[in-house]
Amino acid sequence: MTRRKLVAGNWKMNGSLGALSELDAIAEAAESHAGVDVAVAVPSTLIAPAVSRVPALMIGAQDVHAADKGAHTGCISAAMAKEAGARFSIVGHSERRADQSETDADVKAKAEALRGQDMQAIVCVGETLDEREAGRAEAVVTAQVAGSLPEGASGDWCAIAYEPVWAIGTGRTPTADDVAAMHGAIRAKLRAMIGDVADRLRILYGGSVTPDNARELLHVSDVDGALVGGASLTAAKFVPIIAAAD
Ligand code: G3H
Repeated sequence: MTRRKLVAGNWKMNGSLGALSELDAIAEAAESHAGVDVAVAVPSTLIAPAVSRVPALMIGAQDVHAADKGAHTGCISAAMAKEAGARFSIVGHSERRADQSETDADVKAKAEALRGQDMQAIVCVGETLDEREAGRAEAVVTAQVAGSLPEGASGDWCAIAYEPVWAIGTGRTPTADDVAAMHGAIRAKLRAMIGDVADRLRILYGGSVTPDNARELLHVSDVDGALVGGASLTAAKFVPIIAAAD
């Protein structure tokens, strides 16, 4: 089954109104590499200005609350992100799982809230270094998939991002064989859960993707795109990653 590649940037807590100028060349690259889907998750304060600057580019949020509204100081709902112009959100990033103690159930509920707003979800999973060294990486990641996958998940609106925690922002990446093995294990888990629909869900790799390693990582079996942190902050680094996916 052929799946269109998705290259998504995650600006994390970086960026400013001035930095949105980087999106101009990213939007141009998205247009010229028409075979690749391109998306950028910006801080929530930048969603509306980003959409206003590059309306054709898929702009998203980095997190949403599972509830529609209420007493959740500092949070935004999927509807709020949508109103600002977001078409998708990342959920369950390992930094939120660690810093905000988010559980698989939280992540699932957030993804389902996005579905309720006709938005797309990128559901993150990934093992820590201790878990990998203990030989538990596949068990940990497939359990996260089982617990975090939203009801009714389909390729139209849901993607999984496999991000080994030890590879994020470290310059370290798993070998291509390790990535293939984990993506294969995730695909097998998805098939066990949702049958043939699993073949249409995209599984992205994330963790120290750069212009130098993107081509190899993006063409590993069962890798359907990338979730890119640091290298998505500048067009100079992100555009070659988009090109590598084409
Ligand atoms: O969401 C993106 C990932 O955490 C990867 O970040 O590319 O800076 O390693 P990184």
